[in-house]
Amino acid sequence: MNTPDTTLISLKDLKTPKGSFLSGNLNDFKKKNKHRILEEWVKEYGELFTIKLGPIKALVSANPDINNTILKQRPEKFRRLSKINEVFIEMGFHTVFNAEGEHWKKQRKPVAEALNVRKVKGYYPIIKEKTSNLISKINGYSNSNKDSIEIINDFIAFTIDVTTEIAFGYKLNTIHNKEDSFQNHLELIFPMINERITAPIPMWRILPNKRDKKLKESLKSIEVIIYQFIKEAKQRLIENPELKENPSNFLEALLVESEKEDTVFDEKTLYGNVIAMLLAGEDTTSNTLSWTLYYLAQHPKIVDKIRKESINCYSGNVADEHNQLVNLKYTNAVIQEAIRLKPTTPILFFQANEDTVINNLSIPKDTRIILQNSHASMQDNNFSNAKQFNPNRWITSECPYKNHNPKVIKAFGGGSRLCPGMYLSMIEMTTVISSICKQFDLNLSVNPSKVEENFAFTVFPENLLVKFTKVN
Ligand code: HEM
Repeated sequence: MNTPDTTLISLKDLKTPKGSFLSGNLNDFKKKNKHRILEEWVKEYGELFTIKLGPIKALVSANPDINNTILKQRPEKFRRLSKINEVFIEMGFHTVFNAEGEHWKKQRKPVAEALNVRKVKGYYPIIKEKTSNLISKINGYSNSNKDSIEIINDFIAFTIDVTTEIAFGYKLNTIHNKEDSFQNHLELIFPMINERITAPIPMWRILPNKRDKKLKESLKSIEVIIYQFIKEAKQRLIENPELKENPSNFLEALLVESEKEDTVFDEKTLYGNVIAMLLAGEDTTSNTLSWTLYYLAQHPKIVDKIRKESINCYSGNVADEHNQLVNLKYTNAVIQEAIRLKPTTPILFFQANEDTVINNLSIPKDTRIILQNSHASMQDNNFSNAKQFNPNRWITSECPYKNHNPKVIKAFGGGSRLCPGMYLSMIEMTTVISSICKQFDLNLSVNPSKVEENFAFTVFPENLLVKFTKVN
């Protein structure tokens, strides 16, 4: 009989990639494809290893079992990396994303409720209108025969327009108005969060550079706009008390929460969570849309299959109703496959709240942990022919492969902190991809190898240039 091996493994037993004497692996970790560098190290050092970021040692885990346990043991045993909270708070963001413990629990409930299936169904007219705007913009590119469109900018504008209306009922049309300051301000924030979280020394506090100063101005401008929205929403609730029963947007719903006795929603938290919606719903969704287009522009037969599915499901340019989207199964499979191969959140940063043991691995209190989640999606034992883009693997009756293990995909995180915007983003992406493929042929205007992954808290495609041709 085999007895289970109960020998404890400590962090000291794990290997560490060679780095420089003082900064350790920091130089590699500053690179824009750091998530892929970690994947390479997994091949060399195994699913568990440590890296040195200057004086700090961090555990890297690409083990799906351990990663799943860490995700599930929150908020008690693990939290987000405390540096994330530090950077967020310094920017004035008191949000559900960086809250912990009881404070997080109280914020999570109303945020998740505002994004549940029933609410998203109610938001569909907004998604439909913004998709129509996007399609008319792409129509313009096609009519003027433009052959190198940096489509990610339009996807960012689309997601900002959708989330601003859902968040505080404000109608933006960034897609047709590039000058809109909101997009410009928000675009600065994500890369700066990434830089600051991974910076060994907070240089922006000691010697702020031009970008730091610009960020400060942008944060100030956003604050002014959002506090004005809060003031207006408060007034609306006073004038129309019936809105308290049925708030018309996310901000009104949070204001109702803020009137409860044990509320955690003060002005700062209201502001923070509106910002969180905008930030969390922007890059993640627009990057995933862009990566999906990256594959579609190389697979005309797949575009054709989506087109046929769209023609069968609805008659106009954009799906008329939320209910029609359940029939866009192939479109959904294409997006799942793009997420598997190009997750926009391939690594997540955590910290241990207490001494813990998971599967013989002893993790001391305060250990910094990087969950490398994209490695597992690229393994043939989880997904046969893992490197191949094949949406059919997501359709049970058409899956040509033996191995299919969707549980290892953690693009939306997991456990009680699973991304609450997952359903909303899937609805947005299905609507957009189906609609684009219904009306346009796509071509990549650059060699696929020139489209590079850039990790700036989320991974976006650099140099993605696409040509759109209207189909008859
Ligand atoms: C493709 C699109 C998206 C991806 C890949 C994505 C991914 C993620 C991931 C990985 C997390 C961390 C989860 C964890 O810690 O376990 C997260 C958290 C979060 N996401 Fe998303 N997200 C997307 C879209 C959205 C949208 C559209 C919204 C809202 C408008 C949203 C709101 C949030 C919020 C509020 C959190 C914090 C949840 C918490 O800490 O409890 N996300 N998301």
